[in-house]
Amino acid sequence: MVLSHAASNSDVSVHSTFASRYVRTSLPRFKMPENSIPKEAAYQIINDELMLDGNPRLNLASFVTTWMEPECDKLIMSSINKNYVDMDEYPVTTELQNRCVNMIAHLFNAPLVETETAVGVGTVGSSEAIMLAGLAFKRKWQNKRKAEGKPFDNPNIVTGANVQVCWEKFARYFEVELKEVKLSEGYYVMNPEQAVEMVDENTICVAAILGSTLNGEFEDVKLLNDLLVLKNKETGWDTPIHVDAASGGFIAPFLYPELEWDFRLPLVKSINVSGHKYGLVYAGIGWVVWRNKEDLPEELIFHINYLGADQPTFTLNFSKGSSQVIAQYYQLIRLGHEGYRNVMENCRENMIMLREGLEKTGRFNIVSKDEGVPLVAFSLKDNSSHTEFEVSDMLRRYGWIVPAYTMPPNAQHITVLRVVIREDFSRTLAERLVIDIEKVMRELDELPSRVIHKISLGEESEANGDNLMVTVKKSDMEKQREIINGWKKFVSDRKKTNGIC
Ligand SMILES: Cc1ncc(COP(=O)(O)O)c(C=O)c1O
Repeated sequence: MVLSHAASNSDVSVHSTFASRYVRTSLPRFKMPENSIPKEAAYQIINDELMLDGNPRLNLASFVTTWMEPECDKLIMSSINKNYVDMDEYPVTTELQNRCVNMIAHLFNAPLVETETAVGVGTVGSSEAIMLAGLAFKRKWQNKRKAEGKPFDNPNIVTGANVQVCWEKFARYFEVELKEVKLSEGYYVMNPEQAVEMVDENTICVAAILGSTLNGEFEDVKLLNDLLVLKNKETGWDTPIHVDAASGGFIAPFLYPELEWDFRLPLVKSINVSGHKYGLVYAGIGWVVWRNKEDLPEELIFHINYLGADQPTFTLNFSKGSSQVIAQYYQLIRLGHEGYRNVMENCRENMIMLREGLEKTGRFNIVSKDEGVPLVAFSLKDNSSHTEFEVSDMLRRYGWIVPAYTMPPNAQHITVLRVVIREDFSRTLAERLVIDIEKVMRELDELPSRVIHKISLGEESEANGDNLMVTVKKSDMEKQREIINGWKKFVSDRKKTNGIC
């Protein structure tokens, strides 16, 4: 080990990274350094800088898994050097992905006969899954229009304005118009009636969300299906449905098995789910499954020769890690239906406890529903003095990461805070969070007078040298509003790159 050997060079004669020159010079940010540094120093310096990141377990902004069992961590580490795309070399890994696709398709009630294999693929996340599903719809629609001798250059997708940003990406990257059903105050999901009204002959699919990113609410896929069946009958079109079950796909089958949202509905042709959300795997895995072979146009599939057998692939990228696929298989067989049900029930109970704790404070309106993704979305009853952005900002001091965001059109005047309940967010943490939110509210109650005083001092003290006798020219309310807007802009500008996921 370089650092532990005494040598004439003073840099390597020390035994501690912190006694070396490596901590005295700043690290390059833009250009690769000319010389190497010892591995211990590289590790320590990077590890130290990473300490400034938030704590993933306290990141209540994200649906993505932050804890797995140590046995699974071991499997992940032992397969970290396997490139998933080398199917020839790693046939067992390929087999495990195929097993996952089949298990998930059955979970979503795909109409498969006993020995039939499901049509689906593992992806990097729901975003890639949605790109693939969207491409399949677009190509199918184009093929049909071409065959009918009709124009095929103006496709659209109908969604709610609450869709996650990946749908906007799909629309822009693959040149499909996104027709969004606007939201309204108190109604934060896609209205199925309005969605079906917006469908026209160029609609490649209607996308429904099982578990809106904004408030966790499940959209009414059954009603959408029934209305669309009628419209298709009237018009002669056959507009299909895609269900974006990024979060809800691993929740509904266990908590609401009677809820019809999946392949039980005839117009549902494809479904995506994030393995890394309630599939309970670390970031980097999603799934898309199709109802049957006919729903995935053959020309989108690339055929790789795999051990003399045909290995069809349909993905956007080529190389990727194998660990997440293996971890998903671990969770499916380790937990089974029983284990997933237990985890989801725990999450729901902790969500109810948190919701009740927040209600008891008397300060918040709850905008999430009990049925849906286990999360609590809430807004201030009275935001004339403080905003949700301030609450979010103040909670960071206690270590909690709780995002605040405004709703999409036409409910953009509503701001909410959102706490996602994951498997590793225990009852104790939920109780602790309520206590800390109460503390923040008390601190904020002190804030207006303090802030107004400070502003007044800034304006007046130079002029009359008097820090106490200040004249407030604008009304307190006007001042307060300005401060809040300034703070809101500052916080939202900082948050622009983070988004919510
Ligand atoms: C409804 C919905 N769809 C899609 C996505 C994108 O998922 P991923 O992060 O797996 O790409 C999200 C992320 O939160 C989501 O909530």
